[in-house]
Amino acid sequence: MVSSNAKVSGARPLGGRMTAVKDMAGYLRSIFEVEREFVRTATALICRVGDIELKYLLCQHVWEAAGHARFIRERGRELSGFGSSETVRPEIREFFEEAVRCEDSMVAVGAFYRVLKQALLAAYQEYLEVTDHLADWPSSKLVEEFVADEKRHAAEIQPYLEGVDSSEWETSLESCLKVRGGWLEIQAGAAFPDGFEWSYAKVVYKHPEVCSRGKYPICSSVFGYDPESDPIVRSWIEDPATDARLVRLTIYVWLMMELDAVDYLSTIFYDTPDAPFDLHYDLARHLWDESRHSQFGYRQLPKLGVDLSKLEHSLDLYNILVQMSPPERYAMMTMEFEAGSFPTKAKVMDRVRELNDFEADTLLAFDRNDEQGHVRYGHRWLPEIMKLFGETRPVAEFVEATKKRFEEMTKEFGGRIPHSLSAEERITGSDLLALAKGND
Ligand SMILES: [Fe+2]
Ligand SMILES: [Fe+2]
Repeated sequence: MVSSNAKVSGARPLGGRMTAVKDMAGYLRSIFEVEREFVRTATALICRVGDIELKYLLCQHVWEAAGHARFIRERGRELSGFGSSETVRPEIREFFEEAVRCEDSMVAVGAFYRVLKQALLAAYQEYLEVTDHLADWPSSKLVEEFVADEKRHAAEIQPYLEGVDSSEWETSLESCLKVRGGWLEIQAGAAFPDGFEWSYAKVVYKHPEVCSRGKYPICSSVFGYDPESDPIVRSWIEDPATDARLVRLTIYVWLMMELDAVDYLSTIFYDTPDAPFDLHYDLARHLWDESRHSQFGYRQLPKLGVDLSKLEHSLDLYNILVQMSPPERYAMMTMEFEAGSFPTKAKVMDRVRELNDFEADTLLAFDRNDEQGHVRYGHRWLPEIMKLFGETRPVAEFVEATKKRFEEMTKEFGGRIPHSLSAEERITGSDLLALAKGND
């Protein structure tokens, strides 16, 4: 495919009748693979970075990248030469495998954005230069839009990369991309630097044992029964006598803590390199939904008087699930946590409605709608993820066995994170109750 790629403008060696289409389809194919590989590997950075806003932004960019890939695949399939498979060629994959192995998570973010995504923007711009805008109008229109998205992504990531120096990693990735001739292989090629060796082949990539929450205080779990110790008091949520204003604060804390779902879901992409693209597309949507749910709490709590620097983040679910296989992680998430959350959340929604808080009602309604989608994804994709890992048990049997194994793993890997703050310092149920009484 690559060998037929040539600039459309100017002389082209005599080829087949469809050469012009095949060239453009080849370029789109490379871009599709770059976008989908970004989705698979940039997600691995999410649980590693500590800045909460950066986690949210990465989820958003991953979702948009998945959208780009999907539209390009759709257009590509109309063109002769795009190919029917969805696999990413090793010569594209190796750049992402290299970048993700960068030990410092912020330097890795720099390598992804300042090199790999910058080259993607260049590839889109090259595409617009070499294609015929009337003949290839459907592609040009998409690409024009994606150029604008890539420029916006670069601007949105910029504040996080200030002070992150260009690393050796960046320089060497950049020179390797030059050797390739950019993602489209149409820039002048160069030679590998002397003594260059890819490092990805030598190091197996592993997700961190504990996810990062940066400057925020952490603990093992925020759910419990002691108002003097735990922020989410289980018995209070369901008690009809509980002040509805407290129920609202409690559900916002719960939603903010869905950041744990962001962190553990973000690990599944990298671990499923052979997944069909539609699986990663739905996972990307799921991931972005969870990041928005977490933002519901993260943005609303300060407005209701909660000091987020005193609210501990719970890490148990990530820490336990990352020890389990990807199908087990996904089974617990969709078939147990999400499928099991509806009755309690329904009661919460009824209580919150008493407050005539239109914004809270809206957030909770969208949360519920999204969660229904997530359970549908679970039914659709769990059998596929099981297949990728050679799991042949019937789904129901696998889910039951996974729940038992989760209990075992909880004994081993749960409860290991001590409270960053003392019971007096951190926000607990009784603090939320006091705050609720001041919220109207
Ligand atoms: Fe959620
Ligand atoms: Fe969900």
